[in-house]
Parts: sequence; structure tokens; C-alpha cells
Amino acid sequence: MKSSSSEPYPIADTARQIQPFHVMKILGEAKALEAQGRDIIHMEIGEPDFSSLPQVHDAVQQAMNAEQTHYTPTLGLPELRTALSDFYQNFYGAEVPSERIMLTPGSSSGLQLLLTALLNPKDKVLMPDPAYPCNREFVRLLQGQLISVPVTESTRYQLTLSSLKSHWQDGIKVVMVASPSNPTGTVIEADELVAMAEFAAQKGAYLLVDEIYQGLVYDRPAESILSRCAHLENVLVINSFSKFFCMTGWRLGWLVAPDFLIPTLERLGQNLFLSAPTLSQYGALAVLKPDALAELERRRQTFQQRRDALMDAMQSAGFAPRLCPDGAFYLYWDISAFSDDAEAFCLELLHETGVALTPGTDFGDYRAKQHVRLAYTNDEATLLRAVDKLKGALLKRAPLSDTPN
Ligand SMILES: Cc1ncc(COP(=O)(O)O)c(C=O)c1O
Repeated sequence: MKSSSSEPYPIADTARQIQPFHVMKILGEAKALEAQGRDIIHMEIGEPDFSSLPQVHDAVQQAMNAEQTHYTPTLGLPELRTALSDFYQNFYGAEVPSERIMLTPGSSSGLQLLLTALLNPKDKVLMPDPAYPCNREFVRLLQGQLISVPVTESTRYQLTLSSLKSHWQDGIKVVMVASPSNPTGTVIEADELVAMAEFAAQKGAYLLVDEIYQGLVYDRPAESILSRCAHLENVLVINSFSKFFCMTGWRLGWLVAPDFLIPTLERLGQNLFLSAPTLSQYGALAVLKPDALAELERRRQTFQQRRDALMDAMQSAGFAPRLCPDGAFYLYWDISAFSDDAEAFCLELLHETGVALTPGTDFGDYRAKQHVRLAYTNDEATLLRAVDKLKGALLKRAPLSDTPN
């Protein structure tokens, strides 16, 4: 690949292939409109609108007063690894020894670390389309081969055992899934996930389960694959303090890996980041305590009320989302009745209504231009106002086809 004339020295080919987030364009435009005094409703950003809890702030203050400002061990603070092991035991009945848990700077680093530990160039990674965008880029960076399997509402936008079987090919080393998923908010039922883990094991492949939205599920108990599959040595889990725990800016996540992988992950971690942020780890210790968890449960209920209000409002507006998300804080909306260019649709709607949405093209290729993601990370009244504005703008448009959305 050629360097452009604006770059006086060369940039690596793999780095050049890394895709940007299309939503950043929307965000930039939204900020510019806000600066001009426009009222913008942000439904594009994938993070809770709630701040981190006061318990976190107090714990971090105390740690600062005690001058806990040095590196921790690369695998993380031993007491936090133990607290996470207890968390798995208490909430999921899962036996996860602390020795198998590693703290990472956000789960983003956990994903990168695991894939770095597993992939040789040309190794294949299978994942659904749509999926969390960075996963594709991590595979690209490691010069792996991506196998994207289009998923539809017929499987609640998730891979299944049957789709794994039908898309299986030699050389697949890792299958990546997220439950609940970003951008669709749907979960994989526990039995299906276990069957997928066992199938991958038979094929000598890993199943990497992204549980970052764990805890943010509605009308059903939160689950972890580790309650059923902690014994399977091909099952890897990443998780984070970002979403349920409302600590995005603290950049702290964790991974759970089988014993035999931990020394490799530790060596990679020593080289890539030395340790996860120390003060954040002290904050995380506080967020795993009962009083903090009780407050987070109240926030979860608020997200559930918002989801229900948004679904009702969308239905009343005639937008009829194809399915109701099980968790996270996203609704994946088929806009094919209005547009077949999600990026243009998002930009136009932003300018017309002030509502900022994420185009489906951030999450893959399959019917991506006919979808957008709505994040219900605003209070209920604001969400209803957003749907009203969308309805006002879209009713004026001539529908693309007579197919009801
Ligand atoms: C599915 C999924 N996995 C991983 C991440 C990375 O999050 P973090 O690095 O904040 O833990 C995100 C962030 O939005 C996500 O949606």
C-alpha cells in the first residue's frame, strides 16, 4: 500500500487498513451543532449516562491518600482478583479461581491480549455480522483471517450451533461471540452457548465470550458461560467495569482464561501495558461491595424501564423494531423502509432533528446500510422526545418501498 504525499515517512500497512468508527463522524458533527446552540439528543454513544458511583470515588481518594500510585502486579491486585472470583461464586455459582483472572486496561486490552496470545498470521476467527467493530480490527492487526457470518433476527442476531456447523472450515482457531451483544442487545441462550463451546472444543478451537454487558439484562437472570463451562479449557471470557459498573473512563476490565494460558498472557501483559490502572483497581474493589451493587441494580432497572418506553414509543410511531433486545442499552433498528444508506440517514436526521444515531456500517457489512443503532442512554423523557422528532422527520419522507418496517 502506498503512503500518501501528506505523510513524510511511511506508516505500517496493517495500521493503514484499520477502519475508523463511522459514528465518530456523527459525534463530531453533533458536537459542532451543539457548539452552535442546537439541542442534540445523543443516542449514538455506547456508554452509560450514569457517572461512576460515589463509593468508587471515595475508595480512589483513600487509595490516593495512601499513595497507592505505583504499578500493580501485571495480573492485577491480588485482592481484586479474589473479589472477582467471589463475585462469580456469589452471583453465578461459578467456580473461577482467582489465579485464572487477569485485570486489563479495559476489556479492549483483554480482547487484544487474548487474540495476540492465540493467533498466528492467517489463523481464522469466526464471528457474527453485525458485531462489535474492534474485534474485526484486532484480527486484522494480527494478520488473521476474518470469517463473518451474517446473522438475522431469525436467530436474534446471534450465532447458533447450527450456523457454527454450517460455516465451519479448517483453520478456525477462535469463535467470538458477545452476549448480550453490541449492537443488537440480544443474548445467546445458555444451552446454545454451552453446545457451541463443546462443538468448538471438538474442533480444537476456542470460544471467546464477551460478557461486557453481563448484568445489564432484562426479564431474565444475568448469566455467565462460566457457571456451566468453567471446566472447558477452550472457553475464554472477557468482561469489564465499563458498562454495568458504569466506569468507562476508568479503563478497567478483566479476562478469565484457563490456567495453561495465564503465563503467556502475563508475559504479553508485562510487555504491552505492565499493569491495569492502579487507582481504578482500588475503585473496582468498592464497586463489588453489596451497597454499590444494590445501587447498580437500581440503575439496571432504570435501563429496563427505558428500553420498555423506547420500544413502546417506536411501536406507536409505526417504526416497529423487529425484536425486543434482551439486554445492554441498544436497539438495532431496520431502517430499510426509509433509507438504504445508514450513514447518510444518520447525518440527515442529525441535522434535521438533532437526534444522533450510529450507522449500522460500524458493525459489519451484512445489511449494515439498512440498520442504525439507538442507545437508550438518556432519561425516558428525552428518549420519547427523540422518537417524536424522528417520527416528525420520517413521516415527511416518501417510503423507499411499501414493505412495512
Ligand atoms: C461488546 C463490547 N466489547 C468490548 C468493548 C470494550 O469496552 P471497554 O474497553 O470499555 O471494556 C465494548 C465497548 O463498547 C463493547 O461494546
